[in-house]
Amino acid sequence: MAEASTSQIPETELAIQRCIEAECGEGFPLHQQIYVCPTCGGLLEIIVPPPKSGTASDLREVWQARLASKDARDRSGVWRFRELLPFANDAPLVTLAEGNTPLYDAPHSARYCGLDELKVKHLGLNPTGSFKDTGMTTAVTQALILGVRTLVCASTGNTAASLATYAARAGLRCAILVPRGQVSLAKLAQTLDYGATVLEVEGNFDDAMRVIRELSEDRSIYLVNSINPFRLEGQKTVAAELLSQCDWQAPDHVIVPGGNLGNSSALGKGFAELFALGFIEQLPRLSVVQAEGAAPFAHLFADHKQESPESFARDALTAVKHPQTLASAIKIGAPVSWQKSARAVQDTDGWVLSVSEQEIADAKAMIGRDGIGCEPASATTVAGIKKMVSDGRIRSDESVVAVLTGHLLKDTEYVIRYHQENLFTNNRAPHLSKEERRIHGNFSNSPIRVAASRSAILRHLEDDK
Ligand code: F0G
Repeated sequence: MAEASTSQIPETELAIQRCIEAECGEGFPLHQQIYVCPTCGGLLEIIVPPPKSGTASDLREVWQARLASKDARDRSGVWRFRELLPFANDAPLVTLAEGNTPLYDAPHSARYCGLDELKVKHLGLNPTGSFKDTGMTTAVTQALILGVRTLVCASTGNTAASLATYAARAGLRCAILVPRGQVSLAKLAQTLDYGATVLEVEGNFDDAMRVIRELSEDRSIYLVNSINPFRLEGQKTVAAELLSQCDWQAPDHVIVPGGNLGNSSALGKGFAELFALGFIEQLPRLSVVQAEGAAPFAHLFADHKQESPESFARDALTAVKHPQTLASAIKIGAPVSWQKSARAVQDTDGWVLSVSEQEIADAKAMIGRDGIGCEPASATTVAGIKKMVSDGRIRSDESVVAVLTGHLLKDTEYVIRYHQENLFTNNRAPHLSKEERRIHGNFSNSPIRVAASRSAILRHLEDDK
């Protein structure tokens, strides 16, 4: 079984930001407005000292009791776990009661994957319909503490909607860079309605990300992409909420989609910290699933896992120049947080894999048959689980949780097209005909035209039996 990660819990009294690079590891105070290590350029993580308020079992009781409280901090599924977070008790919280998302049984999807049971943690039921809210609450709170006026992010859509909401709640300005024409209408609509300045960039998400990192050198601007370690602190509480829903028995496997790789990094950090603090006796294996046309992390894993697992987090990732997938949320070729995610996968003995557009679309429809609606990026998890069960990496009797990251209504065009057999991959390779780009509606459910008469309708209902 997986072993403890390199100790996440230091002896220091104060939380700090620390460079993740082993040869550097320099620490910086929390109020220093930085996104990477000023010394070596490495990614930063927040190191939070162990809670003073008691043992794991004391804290479990405190967290459980807060579920009955009306205090805004306790109503939030993120701030309820505030002992794990690097904020003072009087921090000016910007919260919309985020988190608090259900863990559902998904029997149809379980059968589809070849599992006895499958649970899904539906982060799409957050206030703006995606997991981003669990990290935006902490990042925007940190922005208030720092006294910045303008918040920015690059986004494939969900971070944009989330930032726009939380900035509006905090009374801060925000500007969002999105790849023009590559963001779903629902996400764009949310972002506009919450009053954000939306800048449509000519290029893809990776271009927008590059520009935004240059912009953030200006200190009046605060960058809240997941490179910002305060985002990941909020997102790591999903691990605590999930484990509490499992009565603190860690599942054997937790599977997440991978784009910019912030979410898998945050969950990995959450599990590692809770393990080090004695909340769980074993770590779940954390696996990441990418879309085939946007899978630089899966390529890196495939290159290194067999020969030398240790080198996985150290080797250089080769970006995918022109990422392609209809799961637009994860259409990313140069993920920013890949070293952190690699460490989480490695420390928990997980996998990184990719799935095809057809596999994503079918898995999404199967999740729908469970009465659970998610966006395409989220369905990579079920597609990935099916693959790992069929090749023996996951046994049918193991406990598995798929993390669904966004709501079905985030991308309705995709859904309608799938069910009407009118969905085509956006792979424009010249040798591919339109027919070869078609995604088949293997589980499609298209609307039926019917005359406006009782008998015609009854005939159809008869046919359905
Ligand atoms: N699922 C959804 C629905 C997403 O929106 C994203 C990322 C991911 C999965 C991947 O998570 O990047 O942490 O690995 N969306 C970002 C955005 C990039 O801008 O909304 P990740």
